[in-house]
Amino acid sequence: MLNKYKRIVFFTGAGTSVESGIPTYRGAGGVWKNYNYQEYACQEAFLRNPEKVWDFHDRRRALIKSCEPNRAHRIIAEIQKLRPKTSIITQNIDGLHQRAGADRVVELHGSIWRLRYQEKGLLVENFETPLKERKCADNAWWRPDIVWFGDPLNQATINTALSCLEKCDLLICIGTSAVVYPAAQMPEIAVNNGADTIEINPEKTPISHLFQRCIRDSASRALTALFPDFAEI
Ligand code: APR
Repeated sequence: MLNKYKRIVFFTGAGTSVESGIPTYRGAGGVWKNYNYQEYACQEAFLRNPEKVWDFHDRRRALIKSCEPNRAHRIIAEIQKLRPKTSIITQNIDGLHQRAGADRVVELHGSIWRLRYQEKGLLVENFETPLKERKCADNAWWRPDIVWFGDPLNQATINTALSCLEKCDLLICIGTSAVVYPAAQMPEIAVNNGADTIEINPEKTPISHLFQRCIRDSASRALTALFPDFAEI
């Protein structure tokens, strides 16, 4: 695989982190099964009750902090090291690709490890959690730098993702239900540009028909089978 392809794109969703112990958003045990996203993951909720939204994200951060990257994250990071033209485009906000050693990750939906204060263009990364002071100097709330429902994606981030998808010769789409836009329509860009395509997901998705090959297995087992040289990392 590594000798055949020069520009691989790994396009990942929450299913990639399941084997690390982080629940998906949809499906059995999904976050949005237990929490109404309209109360915890949109700007209106944040304006209405910032403490409640902050508490939810602190709980998510505590869980993520207690989890480790799994073999899927490690294989992807190792491939990026060996093939620097490899791109990682993720919908995940958990930072596990980076903790596995990936150094260039396109985070379409932001990061739970970043805060912003829009008015002053301030950005804080890798802060200690739980944050003692949830407000910044102007007594304004720090805002998680996450693309919540109804938020626009960062245009520069979209442009970077599109550029990677337009140039790739292999797209491996892992662990996304492909129901949230514009991310869900991005794999089709690689398809339209003639890339070879693989979907890794135990379940069929609305975009499964786009892929030449669908591996109905977990992220780490499927990637180990695709890249057997990395079976032990
Ligand atoms: N390996 C691979 N895929 C898996 C695994 C696994 N071990 N376990 C579950 N999956 C698949 C599920 O079948 C499902 O299709 O992962 C997918 C997870 O889907 P979602 O929970 O919808 O996650 P995702 O597609 O990343 O959500 C997209 O929605 O809530 C918003 O912004 C949030 O980025 C998120 C976006």
